[in-house]
Amino acid sequence: MTERLARIAGVGAWLPDRILTNDELSRMVDTSDSWIRERTGIRQRHIAPEGVTTADLAEQAARRALDDAGIAPEAVDLIVVATTTPDFTFPSVGTMLQARLGATKGAAFDVQAVCTGFVYALSVADNMIARGQAGTALVVGAETMSRILDWTDRSTCVLFGDGAGAMVLTADQSSDNSDEARTGILGTYLRSDGRFKDLLHVDGGPSSTGTVGHLRMIGNQVFRHAITNIAESMTTIADRAGVAIADIDWFVPHQANQRILEGVAKRLSIPTEKVISTVADHGNTSAASVPLAFDRAVQDGRIKRGDLVLMEALGGGFTWGAALARF
Ligand code: UT7
Repeated sequence: MTERLARIAGVGAWLPDRILTNDELSRMVDTSDSWIRERTGIRQRHIAPEGVTTADLAEQAARRALDDAGIAPEAVDLIVVATTTPDFTFPSVGTMLQARLGATKGAAFDVQAVCTGFVYALSVADNMIARGQAGTALVVGAETMSRILDWTDRSTCVLFGDGAGAMVLTADQSSDNSDEARTGILGTYLRSDGRFKDLLHVDGGPSSTGTVGHLRMIGNQVFRHAITNIAESMTTIADRAGVAIADIDWFVPHQANQRILEGVAKRLSIPTEKVISTVADHGNTSAASVPLAFDRAVQDGRIKRGDLVLMEALGGGFTWGAALARF
């Protein structure tokens, strides 16, 4: 029996140049560098300048991932963009990206699962590749969270940043199903529970208020759910794949809060050296955070070919989930 696996052929990321420090924020709202660092681990975040949009960030990250994979844009037959901050209500960032890259085959669209968006997008692309609906997929997480923040609300505006990350997946028809030979996405696990929408949401939209709205969060309640749900999704995906948490080489979490990363690691007895953290430099970039962190760890030589990597996230909705891959 042959199995069509989605191999991670390349990764890429992009951040706008402009950096907003905690000290600058402390001149805008009643906060301090020490509060932000102690409660979140965040030191700075990147902010897209006026006129730079989610599609611009997505395009830069996508081009880098395609270069890394050595794949021409014309070969791409699926684009899935995870974003909560699209340029327009429609067209999707996915189809905008398709046109910018000169890709004309297959399909392009967005998925909206907020901070879990990249894990959802990866799952969609993986399943489409497994079913033979696509052969070369571009999966992007891209956000301009700065555009939906209330810059007078200290409880949220200090947490988020802008950026994009991307992965290229290619269909790999392997005739060898031994564990070592199975390279690519080994499984994804998606969850949601809409009852918790009020804890983390945006208070506007085209069909309700007619405005874009602002992000609202009851942070300490989200925090508690995050640790429990993320740990559950990690053990579930590892169990389903028949691997022990201890056998996983790297953990690439959604970057919401350094204390969440450490809390989950402690709960599952994971050494913190195995947890890729970019939250200090990027803040919470929502759907972009997992591929941004993945790219950094590949670029600095930590994640290597053949390593077993677990990605996870929790976001508004609530949505949460995990993906396991052999890189
Ligand atoms: O990405 C999607 C998932 N999102 C998350 O996972 C985020 C989860 N939540 C968190 O990361 C944390 O809950 C926060 C970082 C958002 C907040 O940290 P916390 O330790 O849970 O603080 P808190 O919300 O319980 O607030 C503690 C105090 C409050 O003051 P009082 O009521 O004790 O006097 C807040 O008003 O800290 C105050 N506070 C601030 N003080 C200075 C809230 N924001 C700030 C701020 N600067 N920026």
